[in-house]
Amino acid sequence: MSYEIGEVLITEDEIKAKVAEIAKAVSRDYKGKNLLLTGVLKGAFVFLSDLSRAMGAEAQVDFIKISTYKDGTRPSGEIRFDLDFSSDVHGRHVLLVEDIVDTGRTLSHLVKEIKKKGPASVKICALLDKPSRREAEVEVAYLGFSIPDRFVVGYGLDCAEKFRCLPYIAVVEERG
Ligand code: IMP
Repeated sequence: MSYEIGEVLITEDEIKAKVAEIAKAVSRDYKGKNLLLTGVLKGAFVFLSDLSRAMGAEAQVDFIKISTYKDGTRPSGEIRFDLDFSSDVHGRHVLLVEDIVDTGRTLSHLVKEIKKKGPASVKICALLDKPSRREAEVEVAYLGFSIPDRFVVGYGLDCAEKFRCLPYIAVVEERG
């Protein structure tokens, strides 16, 4: 089985314009607050890097990496931190920056876990959302684009570690 890049769903220019719009909204909403932009690795690394640079010199960033435990073949939603925050988040406003919200199970558990660390707030900023796939309730405060239920790659999102570095979002097609 091999994978190929199919239809482009969101172009580089569309992403650029949306990232600028989100950066403006986040900067306005968190003005004067102790904000920590927190990228969820690996998928969010491109989005977070563009978003933080669009926000300017004051932006502070961190990264976390998590694994999800499986309940049979389905992810249980229970999570383990492979990489935790590099500093204390107590009293800080955490904005989780994610590539995509799919079932929402990972993020709903992640938000609960982070709240145990005593932040001032925890909100979600996601580039993409597949609302038709939702199983767990998550509130996305800042969203780039809603997309249909198709597997997509590019701008940080991968398929078996490939295609993360494409500058646009495209559908993946299976061959063979
Ligand atoms: P969920 O919301 O807990 O189901 O999982 C979200 C995670 O699944 C994302 O952070 C991605 O790593 C992965 N994911 C879901 N849909 C896609 C996709 O279309 N392309 C690449 N990764 C995806």
